[in-house]
Amino acid sequence: MLASEGPVDLVQAFALPIPSLVICEMLGVPYAERAEFQQRSAVLVSVDLPDEVVMRASDELSEYMAGLVIAKQADREDDLLSRMITRAEEQGRPLSVEEAVSMGITLLIAGHETTANMIGLSTLALLRAPDQLDALRNDPEVAPTAVEELLRYLTVIQFGLFRYALEDIPLGDETIKAGEYLVAAISSGNRDERVFPDPDQLDLSRKASAHLAFGFGPHQCLGQQLARVELYEVYTRLYSRIPSLRLAVPFEDVEFKDNTLVYGVRALPVTWDRE
Ligand code: HEM
Repeated sequence: MLASEGPVDLVQAFALPIPSLVICEMLGVPYAERAEFQQRSAVLVSVDLPDEVVMRASDELSEYMAGLVIAKQADREDDLLSRMITRAEEQGRPLSVEEAVSMGITLLIAGHETTANMIGLSTLALLRAPDQLDALRNDPEVAPTAVEELLRYLTVIQFGLFRYALEDIPLGDETIKAGEYLVAAISSGNRDERVFPDPDQLDLSRKASAHLAFGFGPHQCLGQQLARVELYEVYTRLYSRIPSLRLAVPFEDVEFKDNTLVYGVRALPVTWDRE
């Protein structure tokens, strides 16, 4: 990115490659083959594409992952896919190809879409709040709380989480009845002023770790510690490495992803002072 000339799309040059590289390395997916999964993942998290387009992307991604799983079944490496296969065998219940494919795809998509959108969107939020960005650049103590506060403030899983009530649950003046489905609007919970005073304010020093951005309960985000590490690394390095980083277009021209499960910016044209 630094070697490039002129404005750069931060999403393509930085926000997408960083978590993609990390999850590829961990899972054992060759990063050079990212064309196989990045575009198809984007299709799978969209909410307004025709069913047949989504089904085709899903089938193609499954086929790609099945190829990897079959190769690793024959020849184990030191990566998560190989370890999952070996561990299940050792426990006397080998994974079927379908099971390994399903877990591999979940980790691959969840492992890069969410974090990539957090990096792009939080960079925009910080560029719009220069005093907060200064605090982050100048005080290393700020980064850990900044990670939690930006997760709260942005809540990129934008349409909430499905839940199914196993028993009657009284909530305020209502009762959610056993057997009913509901959508837990975590973005709303993350702006609850009883928990986060002045919730619409981005305050990087806020102790926001009670947020719901990773969900809640036994199925809360499995990759949350990895995501925290990646965001911490970005927040402590990117803005101090490029202190003059700024938008290359008016804010009004930035396009947002209103039609995908994960909120973010479609592109983030940025520039900076070259020496
Ligand atoms: C900033 C980044 C991330 C955000 C905001 C995020 C958010 C979430 C949310 C809201 C859920 C649903 C939890 C619930 O239903 O209570 C979830 C589940 C999950 N996430 Fe993440 N996630 C992120 C990064 C990651 C990464 C890096 C990975 C993998 C390495 C990952 C893997 C998963 C998996 C496997 C689940 C399903 C867990 C289950 O159903 O038991 N996520 N995530």
